[in-house]
Amino acid sequence: MPLKRYKVAPLPFQGQKRNFVKPFVGTLKELSQSQDIKVVVDLFGGSGLLSHTAKRILPGCKVIYNDYDGFSARLRNVERTNELLTDIRALLCDYPKEKRISEAYKSVILARIEKEEKRGFVDYITLSSSLLFSAYYVTNFDELKSSTLYNRVKQNNYDVNAAEYLYGLEVVKCDYLELFNQYKDVTGVLFVVDPPYLTTDTKTYLFDQYWKLSDFLNVINVLDQSNFVFFTSSKSSLIELCEWLNVNHNIKNPFENADLKTHETRLNSDSKYIDMMFTRIIEMQKAS
Ligand SMILES: C[S@@+](CC[C@H](N)C(=O)[O-])C[C@H]1O[C@@H](n2cnc3c(N)ncnc32)[C@H](O)[C@@H]1O
Repeated sequence: MPLKRYKVAPLPFQGQKRNFVKPFVGTLKELSQSQDIKVVVDLFGGSGLLSHTAKRILPGCKVIYNDYDGFSARLRNVERTNELLTDIRALLCDYPKEKRISEAYKSVILARIEKEEKRGFVDYITLSSSLLFSAYYVTNFDELKSSTLYNRVKQNNYDVNAAEYLYGLEVVKCDYLELFNQYKDVTGVLFVVDPPYLTTDTKTYLFDQYWKLSDFLNVINVLDQSNFVFFTSSKSSLIELCEWLNVNHNIKNPFENADLKTHETRLNSDSKYIDMMFTRIIEMQKAS
């Protein structure tokens, strides 16, 4: 049976590659015509959206999803999250939508969440998209308590069958470098490389520090001799840096001759940024 198609992750996730699903599908289809891809390794799996997409398009391949942030645990607990949101929705049924929640209401909501916390699991990231200002996230009770809450509770529950989103994937949880070293010499391996962007707010990720330039350059080492689909943005100057190092210090530029697909996001009439997807294949020609 073909996999159900998810164009977005079934639960909120900051930085998911929803805008690249279509180009990524196109690239995988093109590659599968000429290359013998046996394994896809999603080194920075995040929400698993790219792993899910790879398995859907290449069902015969082994697909490894590095669930560094524990997204699959959030999915396993989606019914509990729905129950919690249903109760919060009921508590706020007469409260105006999108408005700041008063202290009185806030304490009742927090008491309900605290009760859930004692039962063992609260998905704070999903709660954030219902109770915080757009694009603000918290990851624990204390942060939620010290935040201003808004009534942005979703009217519909999340998909309880979403566990099938991970169907067929091999889920692991480790540092990307460890995973890379495990697979780097495997024939027919394609690495999907979507690290946190430089200067991105990585607060909701397990790794809660900003990614430094050195972290980023370490990822470039991984690309050196690999087949990859790599994601970055014009907000990080990485591509420019690689070009500069090539011209001035004769250091090989992994993006030279790579195929590039882009997606433009306009913030307002004066400013925009461009997300980029680079694909480079250096081996695994299909026997004709
Ligand atoms: C830009 S997001 C990936 C988004 C993903 N492609 C998607 O579509 O959902 C980067 C991810 O890398 C994770 N990460 C940070 N440091 C890592 C490390 N050392 N090893 C593996 N993953 C890491 C972050 O927690 C975050 O989930």
